[in-house]
Amino acid sequence: MSNAPLQRAKFTVPMLAVSKSEQKKIAMITAYDATFACIVDAAGVDIILVGDSVATVFQGERTTLPVTLWEMEYHTRLVAKTRPRAMVVGDLPFGTYQVSPELAVTNSVALIKAGAECVKLEGGIHVASAIKAITQADIPVMGHIGLTPQSYHRMGGNKVQGRTDGIDPGSRDRLLEDAHSVEQAGACALVIEGIPGELAREITSKVSIPTIGIGAGVFCDGQVLVLHDALGLSDRSFKFAKAYAGLRTTSIDAITTYVDEVRLGIWPDDLHTFH
Ligand code: KIV
Repeated sequence: MSNAPLQRAKFTVPMLAVSKSEQKKIAMITAYDATFACIVDAAGVDIILVGDSVATVFQGERTTLPVTLWEMEYHTRLVAKTRPRAMVVGDLPFGTYQVSPELAVTNSVALIKAGAECVKLEGGIHVASAIKAITQADIPVMGHIGLTPQSYHRMGGNKVQGRTDGIDPGSRDRLLEDAHSVEQAGACALVIEGIPGELAREITSKVSIPTIGIGAGVFCDGQVLVLHDALGLSDRSFKFAKAYAGLRTTSIDAITTYVDEVRLGIWPDDLHTFH
């Protein structure tokens, strides 16, 4: 039985700050279409992230790099159409905010017009000017530091960050600086991905905006998971992700039964036949 409240207040951007000050943990999960947006909203999540992970879990790409702005607008629209109580965050795909702050604003406007209530982008010091420009256009921004999948080639793969000293990208001190510059630039929240739990705890205690962790331990202000990982829908598994269900196996079993019934001529039965 679901524990989700039947009626709850719409989660809005100002509630991020309230959640941090009241130490209420924030639950975020990804969704890319209307069916799953309704399911995760019924389960009571605070935030639905229309993540660029759509590229890997939905489009079958190896990295998140190929997904386009148009495709992100499309998936954001599908989710937003369901008018969820959860806040909808649209992910800015690779190449849409790095070129110039002006282009970052234009592309953020496109996601807002598609129904996002906030946009997310990856990076720290180097994207602070983009974050500042987008927030000055009155569009809330969620930052994302640590293991940033759009930096796949620089990182040499999706590798845990924050384990080295120094100020090079991905090192411990640099991540602390990245967190501060994202906060200073005006972001309303910060995803921290794939870093040691101790560092995530330190960042969380040092920034005033809520941190939302994935592969960053329990001491963040909230957590995010990719839907397909949480439901056990894909055949991939990661140390940082938990499958709360085994929908891949359940789905294969169900469709195998359907195929068998068709082949045996026992589907459709009389109950499902018009007379
Ligand atoms: O695209 C995505 O799903 C994300 C989360 C992993 C934070 O960015």
